[in-house]
Amino acid sequence: MKELRIGMVGYGFMGRAHSNAYKRLTDFFPVRHKPVLKAVCARDAAKAKAFADNWGYERVETDWRKLVSAGDIDAVDICTPNDLHQEIAIAAAKAGKMILCEKPLARTAAEAEPMVKAVEEAKVPNMVWYNYRRVPAISLAKQLIDEGRLGRTFHFRANFLQDWTIAPDVPQGGAALWRLDAKAAGSGVTGDLLAHNIDTAMWLNGPITRVTAKTETFVKERMHNLTGKVEPVGIDDACLFICEFANGSLGLFESTRYARGHKALKTFEVNGAGGSVRFDLEEMEYLDYFEYKGESHVRGWRRIHVTNGEHPYMNRYWVPGLVIGYEHSFLNALADFVTGLETGTPAQPDFRNALQTQKVCDAVLESARTGAWVATGVAL
Ligand SMILES: NC(=O)c1ccc[n+]([C@@H]2O[C@H](COP(=O)([O-])OP(=O)(O)OC[C@H]3O[C@@H](n4cnc5c(N)ncnc54)[C@H](O)[C@@H]3O)[C@@H](O)[C@H]2O)c1
Repeated sequence: MKELRIGMVGYGFMGRAHSNAYKRLTDFFPVRHKPVLKAVCARDAAKAKAFADNWGYERVETDWRKLVSAGDIDAVDICTPNDLHQEIAIAAAKAGKMILCEKPLARTAAEAEPMVKAVEEAKVPNMVWYNYRRVPAISLAKQLIDEGRLGRTFHFRANFLQDWTIAPDVPQGGAALWRLDAKAAGSGVTGDLLAHNIDTAMWLNGPITRVTAKTETFVKERMHNLTGKVEPVGIDDACLFICEFANGSLGLFESTRYARGHKALKTFEVNGAGGSVRFDLEEMEYLDYFEYKGESHVRGWRRIHVTNGEHPYMNRYWVPGLVIGYEHSFLNALADFVTGLETGTPAQPDFRNALQTQKVCDAVLESARTGAWVATGVAL
């Protein structure tokens, strides 16, 4: 068993999700690399130490530059707010480290491009944590589409709805609310939530070529946690867009943090000539599948309980009928990354692939600004 020595920057929500994956990898997957939790980095040494002790990291750094250049680190995991991804990734690539970076790759495609160049020049393995691809039901949707069961696709529609920023007195910025600060996040729901849906959509249905979008910022000013002043809000609170795919199908996407009653309603549906699939994250162990065999008195949707050994990833877990959860999407992603190291076929999405999602996000925001249809420039 070879060691895969991990240095993680940031110990928040994703820091926990990834640490769990590192700890469990070799328990569930027959890989030849065992992650070793070497160091976690955050600016507050005491908080980082408490995290390190809880999760079993050997040491703490307070300067990410020290972490990325450390001789005992093989892979740098970037779990910081979006504005830090570029600097850390480029430094890590120059230091010859493998990089696992949280999504979105960066705040804009222009910011992401040098990151792609850096990892490709350094020839270091790299991956972006678009973990929803690794939800078994979504992987099964990909399998059904690749098997040709949907035939020619006509429609892709997706939602990602939340409701946590409706109150106007929620502040913006700082450690807890960087997502509401355009400088740290880059954008609002487009980069945070729709990026996931765009990644899944292009994985399942191919490149998005053109978009037209409408965004809205419902609360125009919020107190900024770093300055203590009421400042304009620069992020999109809601975003709706329609698009064309290279295969001739049409897409419809909606995301908001103002859908009262929804915490993480994430759904998609694909309609083809031969059938349809639909997914709902709140019932993530199911994939609904309609198989067209002509109209008859037994036509209907079937609900696949994605827990059998022949379903993606499921032979690594329990007996048929028993479910896995959100955290396993990160474990599955990590397993794919490590398998990629061992087989020489890199796991996707790598930085170059994730750049395509960034291009769509940019086009969506540009269209919302100009009101025009915008070409994405996504690689075909
Ligand atoms: N894949 C997913 O489903 C998913 C879900 C949530 C977040 N994310 C992404 O993960 C990243 C982090 O999001 P989060 O929800 O974990 O955020 P978070 O606020 O919970 O954690 C961010 C961490 O970064 C650390 N940090 C900030 N500045 C730093 C610096 N200069 N040096 C070292 N550490 C620093 C903070 O201390 C904190 O531990 C973002 O890019 C976000 O878009 C992805």
